[in-house]
Amino acid sequence: MALTDFDLVLFGGSGDLSMRKLLPAMYARDVAKDLPPGSRIICVGRHEWSQEEFLQTVESTSKPHVKSVAEAHWAKFIARIVYVSLNATDAKTYGTLVDVMRPDPALTRVYYLATPPHLFAQICDNLKEAGLATPNSRVVLEKPLGRDLASAKQINAEVGKVFAESQIYRIDHYLGKETVQNLLALRFGNILFEPLWRREWISDVQITIAEKLGVGNRMGYYDNSGALRDMLQNHLLQLLCIVAMEPPTSINSDAVRDEKLQVLRSLKRFTPTTLSQNIVRGQYRAGHVDGKQVPSYRDEPDAPEHSRTETFVAIKAEIDTWRWAGVPFYLRTGKRMADGLAEIVVRFKPIPHSIFNQPTSSFQPNSLVIRLQPDEGLSLNLMAKTPGDSMRLKQAELELDFRESFKSPRMDAYERLLLDVLRGQLTLFMRGDELEAAWEWVEPILDHWEKEDSVPTPYTAGTWGPAAASALIGRDGLQWREEALPED
Ligand code: BG6
Repeated sequence: MALTDFDLVLFGGSGDLSMRKLLPAMYARDVAKDLPPGSRIICVGRHEWSQEEFLQTVESTSKPHVKSVAEAHWAKFIARIVYVSLNATDAKTYGTLVDVMRPDPALTRVYYLATPPHLFAQICDNLKEAGLATPNSRVVLEKPLGRDLASAKQINAEVGKVFAESQIYRIDHYLGKETVQNLLALRFGNILFEPLWRREWISDVQITIAEKLGVGNRMGYYDNSGALRDMLQNHLLQLLCIVAMEPPTSINSDAVRDEKLQVLRSLKRFTPTTLSQNIVRGQYRAGHVDGKQVPSYRDEPDAPEHSRTETFVAIKAEIDTWRWAGVPFYLRTGKRMADGLAEIVVRFKPIPHSIFNQPTSSFQPNSLVIRLQPDEGLSLNLMAKTPGDSMRLKQAELELDFRESFKSPRMDAYERLLLDVLRGQLTLFMRGDELEAAWEWVEPILDHWEKEDSVPTPYTAGTWGPAAASALIGRDGLQWREEALPED
């Protein structure tokens, strides 16, 4: 669907997200000819910069993040950018924004709040007071969307006073990843998997987002957050929803979001026993990643000396529905891990009986691996006959590499999500009730840690996390995928 003219207003326009992701994403879409000629990007910031000074910052801070720059095109792109200086918390300063906005009601207006969440309510109020919260407006909220259920509810309520739910786009950039949409295609564009996609045939599901990176220069944010809030409450639960949801009646936003909500509401609540047994919390210590020495989390710049923030979390979750009862979903994420990858592994049940001269135990159960990162693809692991005279079976892979199969140009998650906002498509954005349902499930874990004064278990940087994470899945007679892989 072609876009119509828009004004995209970036609050936090001179901030890190804008420079690193949003402007480069818009440049890429401009090169792809997606942006109508009259569309503008209005960057809002506190600094009293002139237009020229701001463009110099874009040149030095944002341009290096653009994958391939064509100078002539870059010049055309930055001609779309308008810099507006105002104090987001002071309604009296919004006149500068009113002056540049075009009053045309046919124009799409997007306010992208790439700011800390405590500013959301005030920015929305100020937009309303300035007469800028028009019916043709949309508002985009960046994470973190709260730090617990109460703060998430507060954000929903306050933003909801100014904008209708259909105008609110809550970003989870994992939903913009190509493979996530391919998972929808796999599940609902093929007849093959759906009959098997249930407790009768699936033994367990593993979802991993592992990063080699540490916390970098985000300690101020991260130490107050930790892996559970930063990654699990949002990205991992969203992936779980896409794997586990019932078939929606269409790809329309509410049809999909209704089904995701059902999954979140059906997540089995923790009991005091499962809170202690089914969750592993870790923090990295010094080690080696890619052969390079890296410091302990507590020795990273600005880290509190005795920080108890987790940089790793693994959880065994269950979904109380007819489809999934009894099937464990193991969720895991961590920083400074042995490898950087994001993947979903769906393991099927073992064969019931071997007709070959091989014991049933020598048959690897079938598994489907859905890779989001670093490459995008699927592999289906099957048992096949090894060549030769004897009837010996071994595991073999059926591989679908999305890059190989489809040569069309790729889009990064922010490119796709920005286009969707500009088109008014809400399917890949979280609805308010989903956000609250996710926090409702996560909050008892946070409360438990606080009550217990929990100290995360140390793990060596460059490993797969604390041994307790292997024990968590090992208790059920299983292994994380990479632990089960044969040594090279
Ligand atoms: C962000 C987290 O939401 O996702 C970061 O705040 C994390 O801590 C990042 O590094 C991971 O995203 P991606 O797309 O690089 O896997």
